Amino acid sequence: MTGANRGTGRAIRQRLTADGFTVRCLNRHSCEDHTDRIVADLTDTRAAFDATRAVLADVPALDLLVLNAVTRGLGRVAELDPAVWDEALAVNLTANVRVVQAALPALRAAGGHIVLMGSHAGDRPFEGGLAYCATKAALRSVAEVLLMEERPNGVRTTLLNPGAIRNFDDDFSENKMSVESVASVVSWVVSAPADTVLGEVELRPARLGVPPAVGLERLQHV
Ligand SMILES: NC(=O)c1ccc[n+]([C@@H]2O[C@H](COP(=O)([O-])OP(=O)(O)OC[C@H]3O[C@@H](n4cnc5c(N)ncnc54)[C@H](OP(=O)(O)O)[C@@H]3O)[C@@H](O)[C@H]2O)c1
Repeated sequence: MTGANRGTGRAIRQRLTADGFTVRCLNRHSCEDHTDRIVADLTDTRAAFDATRAVLADVPALDLLVLNAVTRGLGRVAELDPAVWDEALAVNLTANVRVVQAALPALRAAGGHIVLMGSHAGDRPFEGGLAYCATKAALRSVAEVLLMEERPNGVRTTLLNPGAIRNFDDDFSENKMSVESVASVVSWVVSAPADTVLGEVELRPARLGVPPAVGLERLQHV
């Protein structure tokens, strides 16, 4: 999996480990509670492919690939630094495709499952979110193409689109989901009966704060 050293990815890694998976990580910073070496900065998408192949060289079977790493790349179009756009495109989109390409032979051999971490941002674009929203929107096409191309090869794909998550350890907001809860949904998605696949899952916090504009008035803000 990618992006496993902190935030939601750390919780997913810990949950999958508790479920009995042996988790190998493609991170640029090590996990303090985990022994995997640092293998890749995903901005280097060629290195992401090579690192995936290197990790898989001593893995007996690949049952699951979780693509979780993200960079937000926030900034309005008028001012967006091209380097920020390029980084978001590389980490959030191209690296995911390259890692999948590197992993597909092993996934086919094992009848494996790909989980792509999407976001509400993919279909609810917002001001200042061009790079994040556009790359997450593109992930829906990646997921759909994989569903169409790889089910005949025995590989399942799920796009998980969460809303707000408490990904920082010092965030105690009641209107966001805990990383452990999101991880439990990943666990649930990958334990779906073998003759089914949850192609796309949309996930929201159970509690909602009062939005600044509601009802008909909200339509004046889109
Ligand atoms: N948080 C939310 O509210 C929310 C809502 C909807 C969807 N999501 C999605 O859920 C997933 C996890 O989100 P999160 O908020 O938990 O993420 P996060 O806390 O921001 O962590 C991002 C992860 O991606 C890694 N990463 C970033 N750039 C990288 C690079 N160049 N190379 C390798 N790894 C890199 C980070 O590693 P480093 O420590 O090395 O930076 C970290 O492990 C993402 O796909 C996100 O889009 C999150």
